[in-house]
Amino acid sequence: MPAIKTIGILTSGGDAPGMNAAIRAVTRSAIFSGFSVKGIYRGYRGLITNEIVDFKTQNVSNIIQMGGTILKTARCKEFQTPEGRQLAYDTLRQHGIDALVVIGGDGSLTGARIFATEFNFPIIGLPGTIDNDLYGTDKTIGYDTALNTIMECVDKIRDTATSHERLFFIEVMGRDAGFLALNGAIASGAEAAIIPEISTEVDQLAELIQNGFRKSKNSSIVLVAESPVTAGARALAERVKNEYPGDDGRVSILGHLQRGGSPTASDRILASRLGAAAIDALLDDQRNVMIGISNDNIVYVPFSKAIKNDKPINRELLDTLRRLSI
Ligand code: F6P
Repeated sequence: MPAIKTIGILTSGGDAPGMNAAIRAVTRSAIFSGFSVKGIYRGYRGLITNEIVDFKTQNVSNIIQMGGTILKTARCKEFQTPEGRQLAYDTLRQHGIDALVVIGGDGSLTGARIFATEFNFPIIGLPGTIDNDLYGTDKTIGYDTALNTIMECVDKIRDTATSHERLFFIEVMGRDAGFLALNGAIASGAEAAIIPEISTEVDQLAELIQNGFRKSKNSSIVLVAESPVTAGARALAERVKNEYPGDDGRVSILGHLQRGGSPTASDRILASRLGAAAIDALLDDQRNVMIGISNDNIVYVPFSKAIKNDKPINRELLDTLRRLSI
Protein backbone atom coordinates (compact mmCIF):
# COMPACT_ATOMS: atom_id res chain seq x y z
CA MET A 1 0.00 0.00 0.00
CA PRO A 2 1.55 3.38 -1.02
CA ALA A 3 2.10 6.04 1.63
CA ILE A 4 -1.07 7.73 2.79
CA LYS A 5 -1.47 11.33 1.65
CA THR A 6 -5.20 11.98 1.75
CA ILE A 7 -7.65 10.89 4.41
CA GLY A 8 -11.41 10.76 3.89
CA ILE A 9 -13.76 11.16 6.82
CA LEU A 10 -17.41 10.22 7.13
CA THR A 11 -20.13 9.76 9.73
CA SER A 12 -22.56 6.89 9.33
CA GLY A 13 -25.62 5.34 11.01
CA GLY A 14 -27.48 7.07 13.84
CA ASP A 15 -26.01 10.47 14.65
CA ALA A 16 -24.55 10.98 18.12
CA PRO A 17 -23.62 14.16 20.01
CA GLY A 18 -19.86 14.58 19.77
CA MET A 19 -19.57 13.42 16.17
CA ASN A 20 -18.74 17.00 15.18
CA ALA A 21 -16.04 17.19 17.83
CA ALA A 22 -14.62 13.97 16.35
CA ILE A 23 -14.75 15.36 12.78
CA ARG A 24 -12.91 18.44 14.02
CA ALA A 25 -10.27 16.41 15.84
CA VAL A 26 -9.62 14.07 12.90
CA THR A 27 -9.42 16.96 10.43
CA ARG A 28 -7.14 19.15 12.49
CA SER A 29 -4.84 16.31 13.64
CA ALA A 30 -4.54 15.09 10.06
CA ILE A 31 -3.66 18.55 8.73
CA PHE A 32 -1.26 19.05 11.65
CA SER A 33 0.55 15.87 10.54
CA GLY A 34 0.71 16.94 6.88
CA PHE A 35 -2.21 14.96 5.41
CA SER A 36 -4.93 16.35 3.15
CA VAL A 37 -8.48 15.76 4.30
CA LYS A 38 -11.71 15.22 2.36
CA GLY A 39 -15.15 15.31 3.95
CA ILE A 40 -17.57 12.69 2.64
CA TYR A 41 -21.25 13.62 3.00
CA ARG A 42 -24.08 11.27 4.02
CA GLY A 43 -21.94 8.38 5.16
CA TYR A 44 -21.25 5.53 2.76
CA ARG A 45 -23.97 6.89 0.46
CA GLY A 46 -21.74 9.90 -0.28
CA LEU A 47 -19.11 7.53 -1.60
CA ILE A 48 -21.62 6.13 -4.06
CA THR A 49 -23.17 9.47 -5.03
CA ASN A 50 -19.81 11.27 -5.04
CA GLU A 51 -20.50 13.95 -2.41
CA ILE A 52 -16.97 14.80 -1.37
CA VAL A 53 -15.33 18.14 -0.59
CA ASP A 54 -11.88 19.29 0.52
CA PHE A 55 -11.74 19.89 4.26
CA LYS A 56 -9.49 22.61 5.67
CA THR A 57 -9.15 23.67 9.30
CA GLN A 58 -11.83 26.35 8.76
CA ASN A 59 -14.38 23.73 7.68
CA VAL A 60 -14.42 22.47 11.24
CA SER A 61 -14.41 25.81 13.06
CA ASN A 62 -17.14 26.41 15.64
CA ILE A 63 -18.59 22.92 15.50
CA ILE A 64 -17.29 21.33 18.72
CA GLN A 65 -20.42 22.45 20.59
CA MET A 66 -22.92 21.27 17.98
CA GLY A 67 -25.02 18.11 18.14
CA GLY A 68 -25.70 16.03 15.02
CA THR A 69 -23.08 15.84 12.30
CA ILE A 70 -22.10 18.54 9.80
CA LEU A 71 -21.23 15.74 7.36
CA LYS A 72 -24.81 14.40 7.59
CA THR A 73 -25.37 10.70 7.99
CA ALA A 74 -27.32 7.84 6.45
CA ARG A 75 -27.94 4.13 6.66
CA CYS A 76 -26.96 3.02 3.16
CA LYS A 77 -28.46 -0.21 1.80
CA GLU A 78 -26.49 -0.01 -1.47
CA PHE A 79 -23.18 -0.19 0.39
CA GLN A 80 -24.28 -3.60 1.63
CA THR A 81 -23.99 -4.94 -1.93
CA PRO A 82 -20.69 -5.77 -3.73
CA GLU A 83 -21.73 -3.46 -6.61
CA GLY A 84 -22.30 -0.56 -4.22
CA ARG A 85 -18.95 -1.10 -2.55
CA GLN A 86 -17.20 -1.23 -5.93
CA LEU A 87 -18.73 2.16 -6.81
CA ALA A 88 -17.58 3.48 -3.44
CA TYR A 89 -14.04 2.24 -4.07
CA ASP A 90 -13.98 3.85 -7.53
CA THR A 91 -15.03 7.18 -6.00
CA LEU A 92 -12.29 6.96 -3.38
CA ARG A 93 -9.69 6.35 -6.11
CA GLN A 94 -11.08 9.19 -8.19
CA HIS A 95 -10.55 11.59 -5.27
CA GLY A 96 -7.13 10.21 -4.39
CA ILE A 97 -8.30 9.15 -0.93
CA ASP A 98 -5.86 6.57 0.50
CA ALA A 99 -7.43 5.95 3.92
CA LEU A 100 -10.77 6.43 5.65
CA VAL A 101 -11.86 7.41 9.14
CA VAL A 102 -15.39 6.14 9.77
CA ILE A 103 -17.31 7.47 12.75
CA GLY A 104 -20.33 5.35 13.62
CA GLY A 105 -21.80 2.42 15.49
CA ASP A 106 -22.02 -1.30 15.03
CA GLY A 107 -23.51 -1.31 11.50
CA SER A 108 -21.08 1.32 10.23
CA LEU A 109 -18.03 -0.53 11.54
CA THR A 110 -19.37 -3.79 10.12
CA GLY A 111 -19.50 -2.08 6.70
CA ALA A 112 -16.00 -0.70 7.26
CA ARG A 113 -14.67 -4.14 8.06
CA ILE A 114 -16.13 -5.74 4.93
CA PHE A 115 -14.92 -2.90 2.68
CA ALA A 116 -11.42 -2.83 4.20
CA THR A 117 -11.02 -6.56 3.63
CA GLU A 118 -12.48 -6.59 0.11
CA PHE A 119 -10.30 -3.78 -1.20
CA ASN A 120 -7.34 -3.98 1.17
CA PHE A 121 -8.15 -0.39 2.09
CA PRO A 122 -6.93 1.22 5.36
CA ILE A 123 -9.80 2.22 7.61
CA ILE A 124 -9.81 3.47 11.18
CA GLY A 125 -13.10 3.44 13.07
CA LEU A 126 -14.28 5.74 15.83
CA PRO A 127 -17.10 4.54 18.10
CA GLY A 128 -19.91 7.04 17.53
CA THR A 129 -23.23 5.90 18.96
CA ILE A 130 -25.41 6.78 21.94
CA ASP A 131 -25.92 3.04 22.57
CA ASN A 132 -22.45 2.39 24.06
CA ASP A 133 -22.66 -1.12 22.62
CA LEU A 134 -19.23 -1.47 21.02
CA TYR A 135 -16.92 -3.96 22.63
CA GLY A 136 -13.42 -2.90 23.69
CA THR A 137 -14.19 0.70 24.60
CA ASP A 138 -15.47 1.86 27.97
CA LYS A 139 -17.50 4.63 26.34
CA THR A 140 -18.73 5.56 22.88
CA ILE A 141 -19.03 9.12 21.59
CA GLY A 142 -22.52 10.43 22.36
CA TYR A 143 -23.36 8.05 25.18
CA ASP A 144 -22.68 10.50 28.01
CA THR A 145 -24.76 13.25 26.41
CA ALA A 146 -27.68 10.88 25.82
CA LEU A 147 -27.44 9.69 29.40
CA ASN A 148 -27.61 13.26 30.67
CA THR A 149 -30.60 13.95 28.41
CA ILE A 150 -32.38 10.89 29.79
CA MET A 151 -31.62 12.02 33.34
CA GLU A 152 -33.09 15.48 32.70
CA CYS A 153 -36.23 13.99 31.12
CA VAL A 154 -36.77 11.55 33.96
CA ASP A 155 -36.31 14.35 36.49
CA LYS A 156 -39.21 16.15 34.80
CA ILE A 157 -41.42 13.08 34.57
CA ARG A 158 -40.77 12.43 38.24
CA ASP A 159 -42.54 15.69 39.11
CA THR A 160 -45.80 14.51 37.60
CA ALA A 161 -45.31 10.90 38.73
CA THR A 162 -44.94 12.07 42.33
CA SER A 163 -47.85 14.52 42.17
CA HIS A 164 -50.23 11.87 40.81
CA GLU A 165 -48.62 9.00 42.73
CA ARG A 166 -48.28 7.09 39.48
CA LEU A 167 -46.21 4.32 38.00
CA PHE A 168 -44.31 5.34 34.86
CA PHE A 169 -42.59 3.17 32.28
CA ILE A 170 -40.06 5.29 30.42
CA GLU A 171 -38.62 3.76 27.28
CA VAL A 172 -35.10 4.70 26.26
CA MET A 173 -32.98 3.85 23.22
CA GLY A 174 -30.03 1.47 23.10
CA ARG A 175 -30.97 -0.90 20.30
CA ASP A 176 -30.10 -4.29 21.85
CA ALA A 177 -28.16 -2.94 24.81
CA GLY A 178 -29.26 -1.77 28.24
CA PHE A 179 -26.49 0.71 29.10
CA LEU A 180 -28.68 3.81 28.68
CA ALA A 181 -31.54 2.24 30.66
CA LEU A 182 -29.41 0.93 33.51
CA ASN A 183 -27.19 3.96 34.01
CA GLY A 184 -30.09 6.31 33.25
CA ALA A 185 -32.01 4.62 36.07
CA ILE A 186 -29.15 5.04 38.53
CA ALA A 187 -28.57 8.67 37.53
CA SER A 188 -32.23 9.59 37.88
CA GLY A 189 -32.99 7.58 41.00
CA ALA A 190 -35.49 5.35 39.21
CA GLU A 191 -36.85 2.25 40.91
CA ALA A 192 -35.73 -0.21 38.26
CA ALA A 193 -34.35 -0.77 34.79
CA ILE A 194 -35.66 -3.48 32.52
CA ILE A 195 -32.84 -4.38 30.17
CA PRO A 196 -32.30 -7.03 27.48
CA GLU A 197 -29.14 -8.39 29.08
CA ILE A 198 -31.13 -10.01 31.88
CA SER A 199 -34.60 -10.31 30.38
CA THR A 200 -34.05 -13.90 29.46
CA GLU A 201 -32.96 -14.85 32.97
CA VAL A 202 -35.93 -13.64 35.02
CA ASP A 203 -39.31 -12.04 34.52
CA GLN A 204 -38.15 -8.62 35.62
CA LEU A 205 -41.63 -7.14 35.68
CA ALA A 206 -43.10 -9.91 37.84
CA GLU A 207 -40.17 -9.57 40.20
CA LEU A 208 -40.73 -5.84 40.48
CA ILE A 209 -44.45 -6.12 41.15
CA GLN A 210 -43.97 -8.91 43.65
CA ASN A 211 -41.46 -6.79 45.51
CA GLY A 212 -44.14 -4.11 45.72
CA PHE A 213 -42.18 -1.67 43.55
CA ARG A 214 -41.49 0.85 46.19
CA LYS A 215 -42.63 0.36 49.71
CA SER A 216 -42.03 3.86 51.02
CA LYS A 217 -43.56 5.90 48.16
CA ASN A 218 -46.57 5.61 45.89
CA SER A 219 -44.91 6.73 42.67
CA SER A 220 -42.50 4.59 40.69
CA ILE A 221 -40.32 5.09 37.67
CA VAL A 222 -39.08 2.16 35.64
CA LEU A 223 -36.68 2.65 32.74
CA VAL A 224 -37.16 0.19 29.90
CA ALA A 225 -34.61 -0.50 27.18
CA GLU A 226 -36.27 -0.39 23.74
CA SER A 227 -35.13 -3.88 22.69
CA PRO A 228 -37.60 -6.52 21.43
CA VAL A 229 -36.23 -8.68 24.25
CA THR A 230 -37.78 -6.40 26.88
CA ALA A 231 -40.91 -5.95 24.70
CA GLY A 232 -40.75 -2.19 25.34
CA ALA A 233 -42.59 0.16 27.70
CA ARG A 234 -46.02 -0.06 26.08
CA ALA A 235 -46.15 -3.83 26.30
CA LEU A 236 -45.01 -3.79 29.92
CA ALA A 237 -47.67 -1.21 30.85
CA GLU A 238 -50.27 -3.35 29.10
CA ARG A 239 -49.13 -6.40 31.08
CA VAL A 240 -49.44 -4.48 34.33
CA LYS A 241 -52.98 -3.42 33.39
CA ASN A 242 -54.00 -7.00 32.63
CA GLU A 243 -52.06 -8.97 35.21
CA TYR A 244 -52.02 -6.61 38.17
CA PRO A 245 -55.23 -4.55 38.13
CA GLY A 246 -54.87 -1.51 40.35
CA ASP A 247 -51.25 -0.85 39.33
CA ASP A 248 -52.19 1.18 36.22
CA GLY A 249 -49.04 2.62 34.62
CA ARG A 250 -48.29 5.49 32.25
CA VAL A 251 -45.87 5.28 29.33
CA SER A 252 -43.36 7.78 28.05
CA ILE A 253 -41.14 7.01 25.07
CA LEU A 254 -38.21 9.41 24.92
CA GLY A 255 -37.31 8.61 21.29
CA HIS A 256 -35.00 10.65 19.13
CA LEU A 257 -34.64 13.56 21.51
CA GLN A 258 -32.02 11.32 23.14
CA ARG A 259 -29.81 11.73 20.06
CA GLY A 260 -29.86 15.54 19.97
CA GLY A 261 -28.29 18.41 21.83
CA SER A 262 -24.92 19.91 22.52
CA PRO A 263 -22.37 17.28 23.60
CA THR A 264 -21.29 17.19 27.23
CA ALA A 265 -17.70 18.09 28.16
CA SER A 266 -17.04 14.40 28.61
CA ASP A 267 -18.18 13.56 25.05
CA ARG A 268 -16.27 16.49 23.55
CA ILE A 269 -13.07 15.40 25.28
CA LEU A 270 -13.59 11.75 24.36
CA ALA A 271 -14.27 12.64 20.71
CA SER A 272 -11.22 14.94 20.59
CA ARG A 273 -8.94 12.28 22.04
CA LEU A 274 -10.24 9.48 19.83
CA GLY A 275 -10.13 11.69 16.73
CA ALA A 276 -6.51 12.65 17.33
CA ALA A 277 -5.67 9.02 18.10
CA ALA A 278 -7.16 7.92 14.75
CA ILE A 279 -4.43 9.88 12.97
CA ASP A 280 -1.75 8.52 15.32
CA ALA A 281 -3.01 5.03 14.46
CA LEU A 282 -2.63 5.64 10.72
CA LEU A 283 0.86 7.06 11.28
CA ASP A 284 1.56 3.97 13.36
CA ASP A 285 0.55 1.75 10.39
CA GLN A 286 -2.55 0.48 12.17
CA ARG A 287 -5.31 -0.76 9.88
CA ASN A 288 -8.90 -1.85 10.40
CA VAL A 289 -9.11 -1.07 14.07
CA MET A 290 -11.55 0.93 16.13
CA ILE A 291 -10.01 3.46 18.49
CA GLY A 292 -11.37 2.95 21.98
CA ILE A 293 -10.80 4.15 25.50
CA SER A 294 -10.08 1.70 28.30
CA ASN A 295 -9.18 2.80 31.83
CA ASP A 296 -8.50 6.25 30.38
CA ASN A 297 -5.99 4.86 27.88
CA ILE A 298 -6.33 4.86 24.11
CA VAL A 299 -6.64 1.31 22.76
CA TYR A 300 -6.84 -0.23 19.28
CA VAL A 301 -9.65 -2.76 18.94
CA PRO A 302 -9.79 -4.89 15.76
CA PHE A 303 -13.14 -4.39 13.98
CA SER A 304 -13.90 -8.10 14.36
CA LYS A 305 -13.71 -7.76 18.16
CA ALA A 306 -15.54 -4.43 18.44
CA ILE A 307 -18.61 -5.54 16.52
CA LYS A 308 -18.91 -9.25 17.15
CA ASN A 309 -18.66 -9.46 20.91
CA ASP A 310 -21.52 -8.62 23.20
CA LYS A 311 -20.30 -5.93 25.55
CA PRO A 312 -21.20 -7.08 29.05
CA ILE A 313 -23.08 -4.89 31.48
CA ASN A 314 -21.53 -4.36 34.88
CA ARG A 315 -23.56 -6.45 37.34
CA GLU A 316 -22.43 -4.23 40.20
CA LEU A 317 -24.56 -1.45 38.67
CA LEU A 318 -27.64 -3.66 38.74
CA ASP A 319 -26.99 -4.49 42.35
CA THR A 320 -26.51 -0.83 43.23
CA LEU A 321 -29.80 0.09 41.54
CA ARG A 322 -31.63 -2.65 43.47
CA ARG A 323 -30.16 -1.57 46.80
CA LEU A 324 -30.89 2.11 46.28
CA SER A 325 -34.50 1.65 45.23
CA ILE A 326 -35.89 0.07 48.40
O1 F6P B 1 -28.00 3.35 17.20
C1 F6P B 1 -28.56 4.53 17.62
C2 F6P B 1 -30.06 4.42 17.67
O2 F6P B 1 -30.58 5.65 18.15
C3 F6P B 1 -30.62 3.26 18.49
O3 F6P B 1 -30.60 3.51 19.87
C4 F6P B 1 -31.99 3.12 17.90
O4 F6P B 1 -32.46 1.81 18.05
C5 F6P B 1 -31.79 3.44 16.45
O5 F6P B 1 -30.59 4.20 16.38
C6 F6P B 1 -32.91 4.21 15.83
O6 F6P B 1 -32.61 4.38 14.47
P1 F6P B 1 -33.38 5.36 13.49
O7 F6P B 1 -32.99 6.76 13.84
O8 F6P B 1 -32.91 4.97 12.14
O9 F6P B 1 -34.83 5.16 13.73
